[in-house]
Amino acid sequence: MYTLIYFSPTGNVFYLAKSLAKYLKPFGVQLLPLEFISLNQLESNEHLVVMYPIHGFNAPRTVKRFIRQIPLGRYKDVSLIGVGSSLHWMNGAASSDLRKLFAKNGYSVIVDEILAMPLTIILSFPDDLAYKLIQESDEKMKSISKSLLERKQTIPCVKGKSLLVNFLGKAESFASKLFGLELHAGKTCNSCGICWNNCPEKNIKCMDNNKPKFGSNCIMCMRCIYSCPEKTITPRFSKFLPIKQGYSLSKYLTKH
Ligand SMILES: Cc1cc2nc3c(=O)[nH]c(=O)nc-3n(C[C@H](O)[C@H](O)[C@H](O)COP(=O)(O)O)c2cc1C
Ligand code: SF4
Ligand code: SF4
Repeated sequence: MYTLIYFSPTGNVFYLAKSLAKYLKPFGVQLLPLEFISLNQLESNEHLVVMYPIHGFNAPRTVKRFIRQIPLGRYKDVSLIGVGSSLHWMNGAASSDLRKLFAKNGYSVIVDEILAMPLTIILSFPDDLAYKLIQESDEKMKSISKSLLERKQTIPCVKGKSLLVNFLGKAESFASKLFGLELHAGKTCNSCGICWNNCPEKNIKCMDNNKPKFGSNCIMCMRCIYSCPEKTITPRFSKFLPIKQGYSLSKYLTKH
């Protein structure tokens, strides 16, 4: 029986988690969102699979915090699936901190894979490339499910240059904090609350005037920016970071 936990700020990881859950269904699978579960609600199970987005060649700190808390013996096996926007060597060490955290808690990782989906920051991938990535990841999900069922261990072969990029990418975590302080909502904010109710780091407060205030606990996930119905959340300075027209995976899925 599998526990499949996903963290998906803007939908790509969730899409692939559903695909994996479909393959594992005959063997028993629980699909759970990392943000909305507390560890004491989690039952022991045979195999825990954690799916996470790659941010700055690393896993986001939301995922690291979660894994740090998993007690020894809760699961027999653990596996990791990172979802970035490329299979380039630069993402090659993305799971290294998560592996260390699991090792500290006495777990050794069975499957450790990386998949690529459309980019959710800075620029929109051309449609053709986006379709290709979605299709390839869908196919790879099938072979990953086979490896999980066979408990086929991934032999990590992490290049030195991937580790270096992974180390440098840790600066992204600091940059994200500054990014949070840059965010603000414009005059067209309709006080709907979507942003403060859905920030994975609870970094958005509702003020007395029913408008959002952004703190320094941001992970730059872009969820609030892309999901605001009035498109009124913007950073004051780093305007190049959010994709101008926003990001929606469903745009590619409906045309696909
Ligand atoms: C702040 C930020 C940093 C990112 N850094 C990387 C990266 O280092 N490597 C990469 O391949 N993709 C990177 N991406 C792209 C996402 O990992 C990728 O699009 C992922 O599929 C998003 O998953 P989600 O839609 O479930 O959030 C980054 C995205 C964001 C928002
Ligand atoms: S999601 Fe947008 S419109 Fe809704 S409260 Fe937040 S800033 Fe205002
Ligand atoms: S403030 Fe916005 S970008 Fe930052 S973590 Fe929350 S939802 Fe993500």
